[in-house]
Parts: sequence; structure tokens; C-alpha cells
Amino acid sequence: MKSHSAIGLCLLLGAFTPSLGSAETVWLDDLNLAPIVQGWGKAQKNKCAAKKPEDGKPLTISAKRFDRGVGTVAESALNIFLNGDATTFSAQVGADDCKRGSSRTSIEFFVIGDGKQLWRSGVMHTNDAAKAFEVSVAGVNHLLLKVGDADDGNNDDFADWADAKFETKTAKTFKTGGEPVPEPVTPYILTPAAPPTPRINGAKVFGVRLGSPFLFTIPATGDRPMEFSATNLPSGLHLDTKTGQITGSLPSRGEFIVTLGAKNSLGSAEKQFRIVCGDAIALTPPMGWNSWNCFAHMISAEKVRSAADAMVRSGLINHGFTYINIDDFWQNHVPTNEKDVQDLIKPLRDDQGFIVSNARFPDMKGLADYVHDRGLKIGIYSSPGPTTCGGCAGSWLHEEQDAQTFARWGFDFLKYDWCSYGSVTDGSIANPLNVPVRKNASNDDYAIHPFKVMGGFLRDQPRDIIFSLCQYGNNDVWKWGGAVNGSCWRTTGDVNDSWRSIKEIGFTQDKAAPYAKPGNWTDPDMLIVGWVGWGRPHPTSLTPDEQYTHISLWCLLSAPLLIGSDMAKLDDFTLSLLTNDEVLAVDQDELGKQATCVIKVNEISGRVSDLRIYQKELVDGGHAIGFFNLGTEPVKWELSDFTQLHLSGKQIVRDLWRQQNVATLDAAKNSLPLTIPGHGVLLYKFTPAK
Ligand code: GAL
Repeated sequence: MKSHSAIGLCLLLGAFTPSLGSAETVWLDDLNLAPIVQGWGKAQKNKCAAKKPEDGKPLTISAKRFDRGVGTVAESALNIFLNGDATTFSAQVGADDCKRGSSRTSIEFFVIGDGKQLWRSGVMHTNDAAKAFEVSVAGVNHLLLKVGDADDGNNDDFADWADAKFETKTAKTFKTGGEPVPEPVTPYILTPAAPPTPRINGAKVFGVRLGSPFLFTIPATGDRPMEFSATNLPSGLHLDTKTGQITGSLPSRGEFIVTLGAKNSLGSAEKQFRIVCGDAIALTPPMGWNSWNCFAHMISAEKVRSAADAMVRSGLINHGFTYINIDDFWQNHVPTNEKDVQDLIKPLRDDQGFIVSNARFPDMKGLADYVHDRGLKIGIYSSPGPTTCGGCAGSWLHEEQDAQTFARWGFDFLKYDWCSYGSVTDGSIANPLNVPVRKNASNDDYAIHPFKVMGGFLRDQPRDIIFSLCQYGNNDVWKWGGAVNGSCWRTTGDVNDSWRSIKEIGFTQDKAAPYAKPGNWTDPDMLIVGWVGWGRPHPTSLTPDEQYTHISLWCLLSAPLLIGSDMAKLDDFTLSLLTNDEVLAVDQDELGKQATCVIKVNEISGRVSDLRIYQKELVDGGHAIGFFNLGTEPVKWELSDFTQLHLSGKQIVRDLWRQQNVATLDAAKNSLPLTIPGHGVLLYKFTPAK
């Protein structure tokens, strides 16, 4: 937490302006605003929030102008240390007119004194008149001013605390601080070690298209050497009994139920497995690794090979992790002064217009073969625009050639990132194919078109290529992503290793839930555990409990699980987060439902709380339920009304992280006591008792 000393602040204020009003009035805008944390941009004194200070406009709520106050952006928090010295706090609040009329603006103001809610605005939109209030803060030591995003993300969420002031007994100013954080906790491992006897993990279903190269490695834990078997394998497929790799191709469509087996000197295991040869692939969310969150522009073929090796060596492959995905910067770059990429300033394409890989990736086909030989799959990245987000070659006007090239090299996954396509849709570059542009296109045509084009070309290739749409959730991508052959679609901007990012992204996905199903997944971006840092890797800044929340929530959301970490630096805690087969089974559940928030608990024993309860229906009739505590303090709470979860009768309750049953209860009579750490979670499975 940053805060100036009171003396320093008084001197600072004294030097600039004596605008404190009467001795008993302290204006919010006169306090040190530096510690405010908010969604994006900068909070401003007497102006609406802005990316750059010079951009802020005067505070205006529904055409009413205010001379004083603070402009911020949800989710916003400012802590004010009143120390019992103030008597009242008053303000007029609302959405700032700098995005007047935006349908995306929805915010809610909260005033919290010593953990108790003193005032709450209700959800507000642009054009709502300012709401005026005055609350007593007599005896309050610690005042928290919060603006929430009404759980729909913080796009255009400009929020003003206008005319905000304290009446005080004696104080002339107050110290300020940012958002409270949970007490530090050392990493603690919950995942029990996998037994030495064989256990077959991973998804229970696999989708493939007619004639496409088939590759599936049976994910099994247990001592090696291990011998694999597959009974009733359809003709066209072959099992390598030593590696567990099933390869070949299927000559006819249909469903094939296979019994997979794994045997070692200590025992054996079997599992029913369904192979579906049809149109849909990615019947469960893709699991693997992506280079961006750790290496960004510093990626090379060598690092990709070592990620593949680490995927096998670490045992992650035995839990279902499969894809090794190269993000941006495998291509050449347009001219730039950026020193790290000078070796990439070369022609972007060859004489025939085929894209070329850069000098750090001398042999793409060889690299794909290397990854496939290890029983893994490989992914690549491009943009529908002329350049990628990093300024490398994009696929604009070369879509078909690129799809063919990716297939020829042997790629299994394409992440396709909007980026410079904006320059096509706004008409700022030549558009020889007359593709729909923003001002002419009806509805969302201009946004859908480039994905439809590439989706079609990928579908024409003689191999299965997962199509991962990346356009940050614009134009309600979840409504049309499946129709353009998308297997998954990013619904948000880029994740980073902060609680705010996990919270802002993870807990705002309900909108996309109705569209998630086998073959089509909501993608809230990659995992942010382990060593991350976009070219300058460092251990994730998330606390251990925040990491449990992150993995639990992504599994409940049926999200792709793409590890963003440096695979050479996987510590025991990070591995424990990624190898809990009961938790991963929630993500990989065959039914393919996405959890939604079913209960919110905003008050417990008179204190403000923020509990969110997420529920996901599972194929076996059970339900995975995540009890998330978004507050900073641990909470005790009792679940007694099971009807909200549509649960009835006798239920067996299992803690999935600990892999232990915790209760057998009668939903009509019993309750379930829960203790949840700050920013943490309990992930339970409820199964009807027979
Ligand atoms: C961003 C994308 C990131 C990464 C990056 C590469 O737009 O969201 O995940 O792919 O581009 O430049």
C-alpha cells in the first residue's frame, strides 16, 4: 500500500492550494489519490478518469457538471483512514458523461465503514441522474470507497464521486491507501500425490474428423515402465503399447467405445473411452501450454522444444496436457526500432506469397514432428490483419495460403488474433477484396467476416486444426464463434498475474455460458500460474489462494487450460495446481456445461462479504460447486438452503482439491459449514447418494 505521511500531504496541499473549505470540511479530491486502484486508466481529481491526465474532461453526470470530486473507473477502491475523526461523508455519484449513452456502462458505488456497508447506490448506467447521499461515519476508523462493475466487465465504466466531502471534528486531511489485501500465506499443497499404481486420467471423449491424422496419447500416472492396451480400437487406428500413443486415421464416421488399459508391475487400470468421428473436434476444452505469458517476443524453436520436453518430463502429459502452442513472433517483423527483434526484420513472405518463419524458427515442419513424436500436438498464431499484435506478418490477403502452410507444416491449433484487422474495417488500408467494413456492414458482419474466412480454409485442410478466436469478446463472439468453425473464443482482454485481472475476467463470464458446449468453449485467457512475465519471467504475483481460485474457476468455466508458465521452472506447488485429476475432470467433463454464478452472499453477520457460488452440472448427475470468497478476510458461512442449487435428497459432498469426502447430508434437513480463505475457494462435488 502506498500512502504519504499526513505531514507530507499537508505540506503538499499547503504549497498548492488552500481549498479545504471550512476547517471542518475535508474534500475527497484534496486527499492523496495516488493509492486508488481501478480497472484501467488513472483516477483524476475534479475530472473524469482518463488514460492520460490531459484527456480528462470535467466531471459530468447526466449533463450536470460538478466542480469538485474524483473520477475513477470500476473496479475501483480507495481506503481512507478516518481514525474516528469524521462525522459524515456525503457525495453525488453516477456514471460520467464521457461515455454518455454507452450500453456497456454499468457501475455500483459502495461506502463501507469498518467492514459494514454504510451506503450502496444500486447499479447505475449513463444518463442516470446523480444520486446524492450523506452517511454518518461517526466512530469509523477505516472507510472503503468502492465502485463495482456490476459483474459485466469494466468497459466504459467511468464513475464519479462528485461533491464528495467529509465533515470532521478536527482533522484537516486523512491518509489514504489502496485495496486491502489478504494476509500473506505460504504456498500449501492440497493435491494428493498420484499413486504408483496405474491410473488413467484425462477426458473420456475425443473428437476427430474423417480421414484426419489421429493422435491421442493415453494420459496415465503410475510407475514406468507401463504397458498400454486399447480394446475395440476401430480399424484405421493403431496403439503403441509402450508409449500409449494412438495414431492412424478413421475411414468412417461414427462413435467407437474403446476400453483403454494401463499396466505396470504394481497393478492395472481400465477406462471406457469414446472416440467420435464427426464434424466436431475439441469435444473437451484444449489443455496445453502457450508461449506468450512467459516468453512473449523472446520465443524460439529451442524454447518450444524444451517446453515439449518439460511437458513430458514433468508428467503433465499424464494428466491430459497436450498442446504446445507458439504465440506471436515466429514470423518476421515489419521494420521497427525495437532492439529485441532486429533479427526478425526480413521479408515477411516468399516470392509466391507464402509466409516464412523467422530465423529463430528455421524448420517449422521439423519442429512440429518433434512435438508430435512426443505424443503432443502443436499450435501456431496469426492475425486476420496485415500484421499481428506484435507487428509480425499477419494473414491479410493470404488466408488460404496460410491455412495450407499451417496444415503442411503439421499444426493442430491456430490462435487467430484480431489486432491490425481494425485498419481493414475502418477503411484505413486498401481493401481489394471488398470485405465488409465497419461503416457499411450491417450488424456484426465486419467483425465476423475475417474469422469466417479463416475458419472455412482451416476446415478445408486435410488435418484437424483447432480454431481459437482471439478478439477479446467483441460483438458477442460467443453468439457466432461456433458458426465460423471456432472451437474456442477469447471473451476478454489479456489476463495478467494480479488478483484484479483474475477477478475482472474470471467472474464475468456468465454471459457466454449458454453458448459453451462440446466443440465450443469460452476462453477467459491463459493460465497465469508459475513463472510468467512476457519476456521477463518472474514467479506469479497471485497468492496461493488466488491461484486455487484461478484454477478452480477456469475448470468450472470449462475453459481451455493453457499453461502460460516457463515450463523449465515448474515448482512443486505449481505442479500440484495443474495435476489434480479430480479438479481437471471438472474442466474436461463430457457434458461440456459452463458453470454460472448461482448465489451471491453480500453480508455475513452484519459485515460486508463477497461470496460467489458457482455451479456446474456434470455428466454423471453430480454438480461441481465452487464457493469463492472474493473478500480479503477468511469467512465462515453455512450453506443451508440447497434449493437455490436445485439439490435435493441425500448428497455426498467431496472436496476435490483434497480428494476427500467431507459430508453426506440430507439437503432438506442438514446444512454445510464452510470456512473459505480470503481470495480463496472451496471446490466441492455434490453427488446424489444411491
Ligand atoms: C494479444 C493477445 C495475446 C497475445 C498477443 C501477441 O492481442 O491477446 O494473448 O497473443 O496479442 O501479440
